[in-house]
Amino acid sequence: LAVKPPFELKRLYSREEISEVVRRLSAQISRDFAGKDPLVVGVLKGSVIFLSDLVRELSIPTEIDFIGTSSYGNGTTSTGQIKITAEPTARLAGRHILIIEDIVDTGLCIEAIMKYFSKHKPASISICALMDKPARHQVRVKIAYSGFTIPDKFVVGYGLDFSQHYRHLPEIFTMEEAPDAGQLASDD
Ligand code: PRP
Ligand code: MN
Ligand code: MG
Repeated sequence: LAVKPPFELKRLYSREEISEVVRRLSAQISRDFAGKDPLVVGVLKGSVIFLSDLVRELSIPTEIDFIGTSSYGNGTTSTGQIKITAEPTARLAGRHILIIEDIVDTGLCIEAIMKYFSKHKPASISICALMDKPARHQVRVKIAYSGFTIPDKFVVGYGLDFSQHYRHLPEIFTMEEAPDAGQLASDD
C-alpha cells in the first residue's frame, strides 16, 4: 500500500536512532524499577512495537499487560471524550505501573488512562512515551521516560498508523503534503 497523493512519507527516525532511544529508556527503566516487579502496560494499538522492543532491552523481570482506549468524535476531530475499551487483567493494587505510549499528542488519552489506574490503588504510575509532541498538549502530562520530542507533524510507522495503515514500517515517517499538491491540499 502506498500513500495516495497529495501525501508522501519522509523518514524522521531510522532504525538506529530508534534503537538508541529504546536502549536509553530501557536502561533508565531497569535502574528505576529494579526490585519493584513493575507492571508494564501498553496502550493499544500504537505502543505494541515499541513495547516489544523496549521490554527485550530491560535487565529486570516485568509483567506485561495492555489497555485499550478509544476517543469518540466525528471522524478526524476528537471530542476529547476517551473511553476505556479494554481493561488490563493483571492485579493493579499495590503495583508499580509503567504505561507505554507510542506518542503523547493532546495528552487526553494518557490523562484518561492515569485516571483509570489511579482508581485501582497502585503503588505508583509512570509514563514512558517514545514520542512527545509538546506543541499539541491540552492537559499537563508528566512523562518520566520520554524518547523523542517531535514537531507538530503527523507521524506513522513503528506502531503508529494512518487509518490503521503503516504500523508495520520499521522506521518513523512524517506524512507530508506533496510539493505539487496544489489546491488538493487538505483543509484541516
Ligand atoms: C494515538 C496514539 C496515542 C494517542 C495520543 O492512538 O497511539 O495512544 O492517540 O493522542 P492524545 O495524546 O491526543 O490522546 P489512537 O487513538 O490513534 O489509537 P491507536 O493507538 O490504536 O492507533
Ligand atoms: Mn494509541
Ligand atoms: Mg492511531
